[in-house]
Amino acid sequence: MNVRKAVVPVAGLGTRFLPATKAIPKEMLTVVDRPTIQYIVEEIVASGIKEVVLVTASGKSAIENHFDYSFELETFLAQKGKMDLLREVRHISGLIEVVSIRQKEPLGLGHAIKVTEPVIGNEPFVVVLGDDMVDATVPCVFQMLKVFDKFQKSVVAIQKVPLDEAHRYGIVEGEEVAEGVYKVERLIEKPSPGTSKSDLAIIGRYVLSPDIYSCLNRTLPGVGGEIQLTDALDYLRKKQGLYAYKFKGNRYDAGDKMGYLQATVNYALAHSDLGERFKAYLQKLVANLDE
Ligand code: UTP
Repeated sequence: MNVRKAVVPVAGLGTRFLPATKAIPKEMLTVVDRPTIQYIVEEIVASGIKEVVLVTASGKSAIENHFDYSFELETFLAQKGKMDLLREVRHISGLIEVVSIRQKEPLGLGHAIKVTEPVIGNEPFVVVLGDDMVDATVPCVFQMLKVFDKFQKSVVAIQKVPLDEAHRYGIVEGEEVAEGVYKVERLIEKPSPGTSKSDLAIIGRYVLSPDIYSCLNRTLPGVGGEIQLTDALDYLRKKQGLYAYKFKGNRYDAGDKMGYLQATVNYALAHSDLGERFKAYLQKLVANLDE
């Protein structure tokens, strides 16, 4: 079945980025010249999906506004003849059809997905976390949709992480059945050190069968008192099987200060106008650091 919709949960509190995120959603923090959420939406669109369901909370209206028309701004730019900027602003609002749904309390990622059932219904869908950036030649969501097409089962994106960092992630164990594709045999949310030998960590991209909703309904609060998507995925695995895919590309956790800085440096180096100048600046900076 064709995947037509993407869910982007943006209802988290962003506590790792306080005080920056006290009044501004972390998804609106800028990486070079665009908010992180725009990179996410551009990846979704480049993967062939035009309907986006944002899971929002109070204080997150800047995200919805970013993808809406802005009559005053567009009129002003047109009157001033700033046609390049006008095109840029229109491009953003034309990217997607947005539906927003409220998560009334931040009860976890699993809960954020659960509240989308009325708008997703009975069809497979993609989930992309609003602060998880992937820089890839082929959009990560597109890579995952190809795996979903081939195996006709839900797919989670994974990357290898150092074993001593595994406790910070949802971890999968499984057998590699095709290049980079694993049949999942076990999932553990934030395993205590020594409880899993796997270094395959789930990152913020999923293609899910609608059966995830019945699995979420059975899922009790887990690690941190939150309804964990990983726990519901384990039910889904038992019910109908689940695959994990080691995507090709670089992933940055832009909701974390270090990940955000890494994303900024890498996207600046790749930027068409700034890249060369920024590289020369970094080279000079590094040379001075070595002195
Ligand atoms: P994170 O754990 O990265 O987001 O959740 P957070 O809770 O905002 O971050 P910190 O830890 O306090 O800094 C991953 C994604 O799931 C969403 C977040 O917005 C983020 O995109 N999320 C998380 C929800 O939508 N609702 C929740 O209850 C929890």
